[in-house]
Amino acid sequence: MMKVTDAEFVKQFVRMCDDGFNQGWHERNGGNLSYRMKPEEVAEVKELLDETKEFQPIGTEVKNLAGEYFLVTGSGKYFRNVILVPEENICIIKVDETGTLFQICWGLVKGGRPTSELPTHLMNHEVKVLLNENYRVIYHAHPANLIALSFVLPLEDRVFTRELWEMATECPVVFPDGLGVVPWMVPGGRDIAVETSKLMKKYDAAVWAHHGLFCAGFDFDLTFGLMHTIEKAAEILVKVRSMQDFKLQTIKPDEFRHLAKDFHVTLPEEFLYEK
Ligand code: 13P
Ligand code: ZN
Repeated sequence: MMKVTDAEFVKQFVRMCDDGFNQGWHERNGGNLSYRMKPEEVAEVKELLDETKEFQPIGTEVKNLAGEYFLVTGSGKYFRNVILVPEENICIIKVDETGTLFQICWGLVKGGRPTSELPTHLMNHEVKVLLNENYRVIYHAHPANLIALSFVLPLEDRVFTRELWEMATECPVVFPDGLGVVPWMVPGGRDIAVETSKLMKKYDAAVWAHHGLFCAGFDFDLTFGLMHTIEKAAEILVKVRSMQDFKLQTIKPDEFRHLAKDFHVTLPEEFLYEK
């Protein structure tokens, strides 16, 4: 008989958790991942779901996600264990018709609840699906170089975007809309979810100062790739700043404009300011 863990989307989810752990982005239970399942994926595993468990509060309202199913990491669960025993560390949840409650339908077989960042994940999913229904993945990690930069760069979208764009020619092509910055806030609740989802209207990535990064994407490859690209750029910036406190040369605004033309991307002028 088929198991939920045999489904392709579950295998890809588990692989992404393991890839993230191997990058060093998930110390202990750090980070969380959620995936909005496609109707055909829900149908594929429907018989294996238990839809009798009690509904619990999400902690916010996501009306536009009513009736949707998500594969989500468990709160307090370690990414390094997901590949070993997925059914203990991840779960499928269903959002109720009011968009305020969820029910665990599969997984977390030894107990537990979905990630404490569920409000942020679901509010981000809601913002994204309203913009483009192809968005399916929300990913939160604790990449060290990006976190380090949140102690030395001004916590401004335009500064983080421009500084990271300058670190690798591929960056403006991979995240042409830039990235946003949420100042330090208490994690795990509605307030930080509201601030993050505001930024997700404009960007696919939002930094949490002194904490980590949230990324959104259509699929696992794109979302992991976005996290990877941003953290790689952050690593280069940390190296550059560790060598000396100025850049002898860099990519200039007009060079970004030229790149945008050749690569058919639109780079907002707000990030191409003169320094
Ligand atoms: P969870 O274990 O609840 O997912 O929390 C980890 C985390 O990174 C909180 O921001
Ligand atoms: Zn975190």
